[in-house]
Amino acid sequence: MKDSLIEARQVEKFYSQDGENRIQVIAPTDLSIYADEILAVLGPSGSGKSTLLRMMTGLSKPSAEEVRWHGQPAHGPCESVSIVFQSFALFPWLTVLENVEAPLRARSMTAEPPRTIQVALKYSF
Ligand SMILES: Nc1ncnc2c1ncn2[C@@H]1O[C@H](COP(=O)(O)OP(=O)(O)OP(=O)(O)O)[C@@H](O)[C@H]1O
Ligand SMILES: [Mg+2]
Repeated sequence: MKDSLIEARQVEKFYSQDGENRIQVIAPTDLSIYADEILAVLGPSGSGKSTLLRMMTGLSKPSAEEVRWHGQPAHGPCESVSIVFQSFALFPWLTVLENVEAPLRARSMTAEPPRTIQVALKYSF
């Protein structure tokens, strides 16, 4: 069996409230992501899709258990992950590809077409 790029085992996210109450946003969840796969996370608004993706990419720490990248515990944002956020965080005057390129340009990553751009090109039609 091939190794996962990103793996979550029994990750949870909850927010503490007054006293001992807490809001459980992500119940214990397993998810493995492999190379050359396209994965879609579907669910109603507020069901926790963004919360799960933020944990998988290191933008948010799970409340319980951990996420592993290439078998190692994730610490902080994963540099090899690119996220195209929802409309309120996009530049509406740019195309999808230009929105993907924007942070790469800000980091002067323009000499070679990065893989993310090739992937975006491949799947944007
Ligand atoms: N700081 C917080 N404290 C309490 N609850 C929170 C907090 N942040 C997010 N939530 C709740 O977590 C739940 C999941 O939110 P999330 O943004 O992950 O949903 P989503 O599936 O991405 O929704 P959408 O489709 O609208 O983008 C929501 O019910 C939201 O109210
Ligand atoms: Mg969301």
